[in-house]
Amino acid sequence: MSVVKSPLSEADLKTVGDALKGALVDLVDLALVAKQVHWNVVGPRFRSVHLQLDEVVDTARQHSDTVAERSSAIGVTPDGRASTVAAQSAIGSVPDGWIKDVDAVRTLVDALGAVIGRMRERIDATEKPDPVSQDILIGLTADLEKHAWMFQAESV
Ligand SMILES: [Fe+2]
Repeated sequence: MSVVKSPLSEADLKTVGDALKGALVDLVDLALVAKQVHWNVVGPRFRSVHLQLDEVVDTARQHSDTVAERSSAIGVTPDGRASTVAAQSAIGSVPDGWIKDVDAVRTLVDALGAVIGRMRERIDATEKPDPVSQDILIGLTADLEKHAWMFQAESV
């Protein structure tokens, strides 16, 4: 049963719903991973990396809410439960304990790269079925790619 009447056809709804559900999972996990590293980073570049990580958290949290609410608006229930995120995230697990600043930067380059790759697939998949959802995915991917640029610039 769907409480919200969708503006999309059944077939398009499946495609777009899957894209938004996947985007939500990746963004929730990105916020968790960035916070984990924010708390555990050590090394000479502690301060800049520590602060930069919270900018990633802000981006991920803000966009996760937009994505989830877009999902609801088209009649697909968002699923941001921890078990769902753990099972479906694109991001590999972060080791427990302190993490050196260089490893923290590399972790974020990898995490952002994995998420961006899947976001770009979702942008392709939603182009025809729902340009409104695609627009949200494009906007958030631009922000993620900006973060990815900055972490890559620090990893040389
Ligand atoms: Fe903090």
